[in-house]
Amino acid sequence: MSEIAKLTLGNETYELPVTTGSENEKAIEIGKLRGESSYITLDKGFKNTGACKSAITFLDGEKGILRYRGYPIEQLAEQASFLEVAYLLINGELPSKHEFETFESKITGHTLVHEDMRAFFEAYPRNAHPMGILASMVCSLSTFYPESQDPNRAPKAVELTIHRLLAKIPTLAAWAFKHSHSHPFVYPVNKLNYCENFLHMMFKMPTEDYEIDPVVVDSLNKLLILHADHEQNCSASTVRIVGSSQANLYASISAGVSALWGPLHGGANQAVIEMLTRIEEDGGDLEKYIAKAKDKNDPFRLMGFGHRVYKNFDPRAKIIKVSCDEILNKLGVNDPTLEIAKKLEEHALKDEYFVERGLYPNVDFYSGIIYRAIGIPTEMFTVMFALGRLPGWIAQWKEMVENGEPIGRPRQIYVGPNKRDYVALDKR
Ligand code: CMC
Repeated sequence: MSEIAKLTLGNETYELPVTTGSENEKAIEIGKLRGESSYITLDKGFKNTGACKSAITFLDGEKGILRYRGYPIEQLAEQASFLEVAYLLINGELPSKHEFETFESKITGHTLVHEDMRAFFEAYPRNAHPMGILASMVCSLSTFYPESQDPNRAPKAVELTIHRLLAKIPTLAAWAFKHSHSHPFVYPVNKLNYCENFLHMMFKMPTEDYEIDPVVVDSLNKLLILHADHEQNCSASTVRIVGSSQANLYASISAGVSALWGPLHGGANQAVIEMLTRIEEDGGDLEKYIAKAKDKNDPFRLMGFGHRVYKNFDPRAKIIKVSCDEILNKLGVNDPTLEIAKKLEEHALKDEYFVERGLYPNVDFYSGIIYRAIGIPTEMFTVMFALGRLPGWIAQWKEMVENGEPIGRPRQIYVGPNKRDYVALDKR
């Protein structure tokens, strides 16, 4: 028999259906309260509110489980390629060899960016944050492909937009970096794979050869996979809500890039390195910074600690911590920031404040150290997160459209002034 929740409000009792997910997660559906009562539900930050049913990513914050379309993140990070994972997230199944080759060749066929878009870069200040450039450039793509404006268009046209996004965003991201250094743009080389091509566009200089290091390719591949989706987080929810108004996919993804930028979300990877550097420069007094983080009158937080869903550990952080040690060893990099990070983690995990609140290092605590070791500058870290999250955003948008979800429009409890009469300016 299907489960029913009963809600009593005054003299009325409402029977609300319970929905159960494939991992036995349960939700009380409150939709019918709208028609039958004058109540709404209130849940700031949607801390315990589901916005949709989704078949893309499963995570269990208590057990530290993360799976894309059922596949454990540990297996994918160890064995798959990022493009394979992108295919899985967007299409629901792992590709056959033939499907993968077709997908890869369609993406490599679109890596060039329209030459007219080069002119846009000239107008940005050299110190512009690359996330600002990326968000604007992704939205600008929509102006070059007017046929993509209608999200209800034929599936073939949607597919083309998806290929264009996956292909062009690495080019735009690498060019944003080149622009900030006043260096010439490097064009994509299509015989290279996705990660190799990005590294080539980032680091090739006309004056010298650039040899792509397979160790760097492997670690980039892993980092992108770990970031590829994370169900209804701030940026994915943004993409879904913007897309629910039937705005085009470029506009929806651009909104996702903007949402990711904030230091409480994807911007945390940049904020972590800035925090660790600050601690190091200030003499490495960890207790001082832990005390600051615990002080409710001090806005300082331990960046890279805590997560809305994970309250025991973040499985991505576990993988990243191991790979951080491996990569630094393989590349022979000695980064004192890693030592500070490890000590900070050790101190915080023994502290009652962090233990009580279930605050553990998240995916971004160690990712910046790896990015730095492979030569990515700090202001590009959140762009790297965006590259990784792109297939997740696309998959979330596609699922929302295919499920015919209604426009996202939350309610509110109004707490402003009651009705009052207007007083003319000269009488106030
Ligand atoms: N340092 C110190 N205290 C913290 C921290 C932190 N990093 N994170 C949470 N708290 C405290 C918070 O003050 C609150 O304490 P109290 O119960 O006494 O008021 C309690 O822990 C619960 O925090 P919250 O802010 O209600 O939790 P949330 O689920 O709303 O926020 C979070 C989650 C990730 C925004 C938050 O933990 C945070 O700001 N962390 C630092 C930023 C960060 O690393 N963000 C990256 C997240 S992982 C990448 C991604 O997927 O976006």
